[in-house]
Amino acid sequence: MKKKIRVGILTSGGDAPGMNACIRAVVRGCLSKGMEVFGIYQGYHGLIEDDIQQMSISSVADIIHRGGTILRTARSHRFREPEGRKAGYENLKKHGISALVVIGGDGTMTGGMLMGKENGIKVYGLPGTIDNDLGYTDTTIGFDTAVNTAVAAVGNIRDTSSSMGRTTVIEVMGRACGDIALYAGLAGGAEDILIPEQAYDIDKIAEEIKAGVARGKLHSIIIKAEGVALSTQALAEFLELKTGCETKTVLLGYIQRGGSPTARDRVLASRMGVKAAELIEQGAESSAIGIRGDEIVAIPLEEALSIKKKSHTDFIEICNLLL
Ligand code: F6P
Repeated sequence: MKKKIRVGILTSGGDAPGMNACIRAVVRGCLSKGMEVFGIYQGYHGLIEDDIQQMSISSVADIIHRGGTILRTARSHRFREPEGRKAGYENLKKHGISALVVIGGDGTMTGGMLMGKENGIKVYGLPGTIDNDLGYTDTTIGFDTAVNTAVAAVGNIRDTSSSMGRTTVIEVMGRACGDIALYAGLAGGAEDILIPEQAYDIDKIAEEIKAGVARGKLHSIIIKAEGVALSTQALAEFLELKTGCETKTVLLGYIQRGGSPTARDRVLASRMGVKAAELIEQGAESSAIGIRGDEIVAIPLEEALSIKKKSHTDFIEICNLLL
């Protein structure tokens, strides 16, 4: 009898809404093609610790709508070293796993790519991160949910800011990438957006706030990405001083990472997960799976990771135009 292909799957780094939908798609996609699937708990940490269990069709029942990741996640310092990656690979070998699916961001994919190269195992990367900071794919799993969570929060903050006649500086996540700020800012009708990829002029922002107040505007919302060097508190103090408007700060924080994934993220995760199963069945080279336009694509893993992310700085112009 032909030996079944054994596939390992893990989630690593910061969790993102839609990771569960993606795990479900990979597990069910692979099982339907006659493969066996092994869940690795707590990312690369669990891989090194041999925290690995076989999964079945019911291991992924009732999870498509849940935030977080049933496989749990971690940031592993040991896996950053060749010795840690070797230890992880030895555990895969022990379980007879010949293909590894990793769901996570840049760090997760880079770790998987290095382990694959060093030890000769196929690795398939699925982009699970709220940050949308991977250049090879138009969007990542979790980004849409995080943006919608941020937009809902901006709406609530706008209500109280208007009532109180305040300016509010809202800090959103995204590491070095300004995409959550750009999308939440534009969709939330912010007065201005500050991102790490684009120079900003805080004197101009203060002038715009003053002009808005003179026109009878009741509030101002400024969205700032966490990767901007200037601290949110320092920006708020500066704006209050320059405009005379009471200025508050809100750090949205981890609220952006949790919650039930949007339909868009569930669909994206499901399509990408099934694509991973197809690639494994075909014996394709190590790849990163992404979306370009409406097409799910697979790009050689190392090449995908070298593609630089482009920023939608035009969103800031649109935002200023619509002030
Ligand atoms: O990468 C996802 C992310 O939520 C970033 O936006 C944020 O900077 C970081 O993770 C926070 O990481 P941690 O969970 O380790 O605090």
